[in-house]
Amino acid sequence: MPLNLSDYNNFMKILEATSLSHHFEYTLFEHIELSLYPGETMAIVGESGSGKSTLLHTLSTLLKPNEGVVKLLDSDIYKLKERELVALRRDELGLIFQSHYLFKGFSAYENLEVASILAAEPIDSSLVERLGLQDVINMKVTQLSGGQQQRISIARVLTKKPRIIFADEPTGNLDNNTSLEVMRIFEEYVKEERAALILVTHNEEFAFRCNKVYRLHEKVLERIK
Ligand SMILES: Nc1ncnc2c1ncn2[C@@H]1O[C@H](COP(=O)(O)OP(=O)(O)OP(=O)(O)O)[C@@H](O)[C@H]1O
Ligand SMILES: [Mg+2]
Repeated sequence: MPLNLSDYNNFMKILEATSLSHHFEYTLFEHIELSLYPGETMAIVGESGSGKSTLLHTLSTLLKPNEGVVKLLDSDIYKLKERELVALRRDELGLIFQSHYLFKGFSAYENLEVASILAAEPIDSSLVERLGLQDVINMKVTQLSGGQQQRISIARVLTKKPRIIFADEPTGNLDNNTSLEVMRIFEEYVKEERAALILVTHNEEFAFRCNKVYRLHEKVLERIK
């Protein structure tokens, strides 16, 4: 089924998860229902080990859940052909995960350039400045600190102009001011692009800036805002 985005509108859900369950050695979560519309942000909080990253993986094409359906932009993602899945990931999804997946042999700038070329979108120099990256932009990824690498991966994902951003602890290595700036950048992006954000965080203050907040606790995803 080709992704037809020309008739895409604000009433169409960006994400819809129905009756999701997953276990490894034991059940992590059961019967999860979620939906996200254009312009919305959602946070997921919960204890370490409760299954938040696993849930994010199942929602973002990386892990087929044991049960349930995940629809992104109306496509049932675990029924897509490999080629369609690759196109969906490339064109619509922004993944910011705990390990950064930057191209290690390249400079920070070259990492942004790759995203810029693939998406045919310009590199946003004001974004680079707001993230405090202007002075390290020509350095190799391996020469950057953990927090600088994290900011480059955020800039790279936003350069792609994804329809939905999945961010797993994106501010985990950052100081308070930089973290707040990252939150503001996400919020503005989602509003301006009519995109959506799912944020996993241990920071309750940031979580409650989101439109919807859920807590994963004892296998159940409970809505707390
Ligand atoms: N691929 C895997 N195979 C087996 N067990 C796994 C796998 N991935 C995660 N787990 C287990 O599932 C549980 C939940 O892990 P997950 O990474 O989803 O937790 P989390 O809520 O993101 O924790 P944290 O806040 O520490 O990042 C853990 O006990 C983990 O060991
Ligand atoms: Mg995690």
